[in-house]
Amino acid sequence: MRESILGGPFTFPGTDMTVQRMGYGAMQLAGPGVWGPPNDLKNAEAVLREAVESGINHIDTSDFYGPHITNQIIRQALHPYRAGLVIVTKLGARRPPDKSWQRANSSEELTAGVYDNLRNLGLDAIDIVNYRVVGSGHGTEEGSISEQVTALAELKHKGLIRHIGLSNVTATQVTEAQKITEIVCVQNLYNLAHRQDDLLIDDLARQGIAYVPFFPLGGFTPLQSSTLSEVAQRFNATPMQVALAWLRQRSPNILLIPGTSSLIHLRENLAAVELTLSTDALTELDGIATAIADH
Ligand SMILES: NC(=O)c1ccc[n+]([C@@H]2O[C@H](COP(=O)([O-])OP(=O)(O)OC[C@H]3O[C@@H](n4cnc5c(N)ncnc54)[C@H](OP(=O)(O)O)[C@@H]3O)[C@@H](O)[C@H]2O)c1
Repeated sequence: MRESILGGPFTFPGTDMTVQRMGYGAMQLAGPGVWGPPNDLKNAEAVLREAVESGINHIDTSDFYGPHITNQIIRQALHPYRAGLVIVTKLGARRPPDKSWQRANSSEELTAGVYDNLRNLGLDAIDIVNYRVVGSGHGTEEGSISEQVTALAELKHKGLIRHIGLSNVTATQVTEAQKITEIVCVQNLYNLAHRQDDLLIDDLARQGIAYVPFFPLGGFTPLQSSTLSEVAQRFNATPMQVALAWLRQRSPNILLIPGTSSLIHLRENLAAVELTLSTDALTELDGIATAIADH
């Protein structure tokens, strides 16, 4: 029953892949610092199983979560995968033993990364691979990505990848990539408090391309705002449910992948699809980013 109401369907452009707009981000399933196994492996598997049993058919992951461990948990919990489940992974980084996040974007590294994902997820082909740009600092950084996107297009041609997306990119990089291959989704940092991609979201919406915000709840620094708390209280919801509802109402091409290692939070996040915010509440919430920008 839930499947019909998980935010409604979205079809990635030029594909036959349709997902519910409420998905699941698997990064929180690894151990602390996205490193090593979780404290409670059985719980991690239970979260994944309940997500899929509740109708979620879009899981975002990466082989650099753990590293490798999150994908192995997904395989252990969900393989053989149910028909229609879309698993999206990302390439472009590696995790050396010091637990840092380093660039890994040569053609050889991207190819090896695809094979790692295939092996750890137990797949013959990956539904969608995002090329994740790792710059010198946090956030996006201009610079050509044509070499990496060309490498992914070749892996698609070989049948190892079905579709290609981008992550942590600028509008210029999206345009550059689209000249090489079809881009079906863009995954960037965006939430109530971080609105730098407003124009990009609208542009992608016009093209039917999915925009998948990472850190939809604030990531490692959960969203906190008195306005958010007040609106949540008025709607008899939690602040995180309001943050998700705001994203869903922001644009029809936004797909949600909140990350959680908790069954209770998973259920709360799923229930957020039933929350519809009034125009007045949306305007109030829009003020959060404006207040940060003015500060
Ligand atoms: N492309 C990229 O570079 C990139 C970067 C980061 C993340 N991602 C993807 O985006 C997904 C989402 O991002 P994220 O997981 O980092 O951050 P997030 O979804 O913004 O927030 C996750 C945090 O919120 C907590 N949380 C989740 N649901 C909650 C609820 N209902 N109430 C209170 N707290 C709640 C989680 O803790 P609990 O575990 O305790 O629930 C966790 O600490 C990731 O899982 C990953 O797949 C991609």
